[in-house]
Amino acid sequence: MTARLILGKDVSEEIYAELRQRIENLKSKGVVPGLAVVLVGDDPASQVYVRKKGEMCESLGMHSVTIRMPQETTQQELMDKVAELNADPAIHGFLVQLPLPAHLDEEQVINAISPAKDADCFHPWNVGRMLIGNPDFLPATPAGVQQMLIRSGIDTAGKHVVVVGRSNIVGKPMAAMMLQKGIGADSTVTVVHSRTRDLASVTRQADILIVGIGKPRFITADMVKEGAVVIDVGTNRIDDPTHPKGSRLVGDVDFDAVEPKVSAISPVPGGVGPMTICMLMANAVKAAENALEAE
Ligand code: GUN
Repeated sequence: MTARLILGKDVSEEIYAELRQRIENLKSKGVVPGLAVVLVGDDPASQVYVRKKGEMCESLGMHSVTIRMPQETTQQELMDKVAELNADPAIHGFLVQLPLPAHLDEEQVINAISPAKDADCFHPWNVGRMLIGNPDFLPATPAGVQQMLIRSGIDTAGKHVVVVGRSNIVGKPMAAMMLQKGIGADSTVTVVHSRTRDLASVTRQADILIVGIGKPRFITADMVKEGAVVIDVGTNRIDDPTHPKGSRLVGDVDFDAVEPKVSAISPVPGGVGPMTICMLMANAVKAAENALEAE
């Protein structure tokens, strides 16, 4: 069997075309959707993500603000910045890039973001709305995975979805979303994680396996059912002296070993990667539409 490749680039281009129309529509009503990103400190991976977010905003014709704060920023200074963005009418959505430097309290910061401007969907109010099946925003990476499934024509209703990993950013919301009623969901969901006994016996039952556990090439061929659909959310940088940079990105799935066995699979890089920023942009556009409606 040759697996079909599920590519985030193709799926995100489809969604960007739709977002451009919604942005034009907002602009025709005098609203330019605005997204702000706050970056504290100089984590190199975060710098790259934040730059990409700003570039994408601009290419969509959105108002983009990037706020860089020094490593020594105090909790109060960051809380003041959040309050300022909550009050800024030109900013419809914003996020504080994680991880924060160790001396800062992430939870307090997330809780201070106005739920109406919570572009990441990390605020407990929005997490709760997502869980009960009445979401305003969706968390970007799981929403991206769901769009990849929907737009690749993969039927999820009644299927056994096994989510590998239980992070607040990927595993937990992913499981909650696949459990909901409706398109791209209606699944029977099992979550496995680092403490699961005989994890492979569960992953082998998956019709759809979604992996976000943060361990390079963790899922091997013997852990996957013949004909399954595999979505790899992992991004692990591993040393590779043959590569010009001395390192390269690999997923949580051993792609070369798993690909021959499955019906469809997302590679790393090129799979889920482009979807996160895409769905973040979708949340910012939604926030602007909500603000217009509330006027
Ligand atoms: N760090 C890694 N992923 C994310 C994300 O989706 N949002 C934020 N704010 N920080 C992150």
